[in-house]
Amino acid sequence: MASKGKIKVLILGSGGREHALLKVCLRSPRVSQVCVAPGNGGMAMEAECLPVDLTKPAEVVALVQRTGSQFVIVGPEVPLAHGVVDALESAGIPAYGPLASGARLEASKAFSKDFLFRHKIPTAAAETFRQLDPAIAYVRQQSLPIVIKASGLAAGKGVVIATTHAEAEEALRSMMETKIFGSSGDEVIIEEFMQGEEASIMLMVCGEEYLMLPPSQDHKRVGEGDTGLNTGGMGAYAPTTVVTPEVERRLREEIIIPTLRGLKADGIDYRGTLYVGIMVTSTGPRVVEFNVRFGDPECQVLMPMLETDPIEIMEAIAAGTFKSSSVKLCAGSTIIVVLAAGGYPGDIRKGDVIEFPKDLPAGVDIVHSGTQKLPDGRIVTSGGRVLGVVAHGATLQEAVKKAYSVVPKIRFEGCHYRRDIGYRQLKRDAGL
Ligand code: AMP
Ligand code: GLY
Repeated sequence: MASKGKIKVLILGSGGREHALLKVCLRSPRVSQVCVAPGNGGMAMEAECLPVDLTKPAEVVALVQRTGSQFVIVGPEVPLAHGVVDALESAGIPAYGPLASGARLEASKAFSKDFLFRHKIPTAAAETFRQLDPAIAYVRQQSLPIVIKASGLAAGKGVVIATTHAEAEEALRSMMETKIFGSSGDEVIIEEFMQGEEASIMLMVCGEEYLMLPPSQDHKRVGEGDTGLNTGGMGAYAPTTVVTPEVERRLREEIIIPTLRGLKADGIDYRGTLYVGIMVTSTGPRVVEFNVRFGDPECQVLMPMLETDPIEIMEAIAAGTFKSSSVKLCAGSTIIVVLAAGGYPGDIRKGDVIEFPKDLPAGVDIVHSGTQKLPDGRIVTSGGRVLGVVAHGATLQEAVKKAYSVVPKIRFEGCHYRRDIGYRQLKRDAGL
């Protein structure tokens, strides 16, 4: 790999995950130049950001050709589901991310549920419905809580955990009748509620060969102690010991290996990230969902934990030559604390100027999500999750301390964040 010439890279996306991937490119000895489409305020300070419609594969191919990019890293799921990697492959441009056939694991929950059942992979029992009346009749007979999911992409908002039958019916009506998620609610899944603690398992997959990154934990609720509304993720840390050696053994044997074999058996040549959301239940790990890209904010904590250059891994996966035995991981723990805009996850404030600390302690970095760079150079808020403070330490406790020493030094009107990121693991580490 080292003997090859350096490459020009294009990153697709505009969130914190993509800013973390940009930082990987800027550190990589493999990369001569990097640009981003469409990017955000933080990325605009470090690389050229270009406009693009990520749902239009032909537009992406034209952009790659115009910029002379030699490798494309696809951040979010939407371009993958629209077949951007298929179009790039047809144009002879290597890219990191699965083809549309693999992206269906995230783009259609009905498809992924069927995949899990066919390949006998542990997951929640579920039924799929296309008609409201049979869905309502079915849900009335189920015990509570019960989980209602829109099958299509709904930006992480298409899941309702109903604690009463009235709430379950209301969720079905809003998805199937009022169409709050548009055609994503044409098919709805009614699923058994799984009790346990969740973990995010990020795999970098090349057919049946895979690298499992350290298990991480996201914090989806807006409020401390996991209360309040669901968000895209208010913080994350890795590694998490909720995945004990025994859980990891079962995860690999009962979930990961059957999934990769199943993909192959179904004729899907999967190359890219496979994010397996698991619930660690009293009967073992079970799949909550698949995503076909890195988690955000999990990506921000996992990239700094790779001692091997992630670009080398992504290039080898795209080429179909990856061997996980060559990869080295770093010791220690990493955390991200997300700073959100006023009103998030509801109607958010935008356009507030952000003040940054003058310098950062060693091992701490700021990753931008919803920010914009004004022509005068100031950075303003422009999205729900505004930015994140990433910190690495020998222990999680040290990483937490470092991150929270910087968080209050970032200021903008309406800013809010959780003060308890990593609390489950800190308790475990303290033997509580
Ligand atoms: P999903 O988009 O499928 O990941 O669902 C979003 C969140 O809802 C998950 O991260 C879980 O916290 C929760 N969830 C989804 N399905 C279930 C389930 N069957 N049992 C318990 N919690 C679930
Ligand atoms: N952090 C959860 C996700 O990226 O879906």
